[in-house]
Amino acid sequence: MSLFVSFEGGEGSGKSTQAKLLRDRLSEAGHPVLLVHEPGTTPLGLYLRERLKRQTRQEDIISPSAELFLFAAARAELAAKVIKPFLARRGAVVLSDRYMDSTTAYQGHGRRIDLSKIQVVNELATQGTVPDLTFLLDLSPEDGLARIRAKLTLEQGKETAHQRQDREGMRRFEEETLAFHRRVRDGYLKLAQQEPVRWRLLDATRPVDDLAAVVWAEVEAHLRREPSGGEDVQPGLMPIGERPPDDAAKKTRKG
Ligand SMILES: Nc1ncnc2c1ncn2[C@@H]1O[C@H](COP(=O)(O)OP(=O)(O)OP(=O)(O)O)[C@@H](O)[C@H]1O
Ligand SMILES: [Mg+2]
Repeated sequence: MSLFVSFEGGEGSGKSTQAKLLRDRLSEAGHPVLLVHEPGTTPLGLYLRERLKRQTRQEDIISPSAELFLFAAARAELAAKVIKPFLARRGAVVLSDRYMDSTTAYQGHGRRIDLSKIQVVNELATQGTVPDLTFLLDLSPEDGLARIRAKLTLEQGKETAHQRQDREGMRRFEEETLAFHRRVRDGYLKLAQQEPVRWRLLDATRPVDDLAAVVWAEVEAHLRREPSGGEDVQPGLMPIGERPPDDAAKKTRKG
């Protein structure tokens, strides 16, 4: 049995941290494991990633629908050429740091492109190569931004490629309004509610190791073909449909 796992959530929520810890743990356990990052990983994805980042001059700014297609093009290439072939291996596990749900959350809920159109584009891009299990690292945009800032302050000095990525990440983050990031977060929570069997909701403010333990327990259960099914909530998972109490209080009522 093979397994496809994706990590979703806002900027700075800890997706890459958890994806890497899970990759290391799976590989120690002897599983063929592949970690992919969106957009990127394939030559086309890397090319598109560079272009998507390069939006500093007014004439370089990509329209929302063109942006949707560029992300979809990167994903189509990744799904067909990398993820699907790897999953054909016995016991293989593919981990994706962002996948199709990022498109629904950012281009759909964030940029307000019609969700039914997003769904069609996602289906065209993935061709049925969709995650079995998706972890949502739920964090307020304020906390996410604070984390990225803190990380950049800590790492001042000679800039590595990874730090450059974080700096670019922060620039992208700050270019969008807080309202945009809140729509993204709420969009993710809606997605989890719509498909509770696939999604696992994590409180991303918890310590890294606690989160990693919960992620590992869920993945192990899946590999043993005993998924918790989203109904029996395992220790450490938040029941889908609830958000952390402090945020619920802050949230303004709509309608
Ligand atoms: N559970 C956690 N508690 C506190 N800090 C964390 C936690 N998880 C990750 N961090 C820290 O927050 C920062 C962002 O983490 P990470 O890069 O994993 O997030 P990300 O979701 O991949 O962000 P991006 O969307 O920018 O790629 C890092 O400095 C990381 O060490
Ligand atoms: Mg990351």
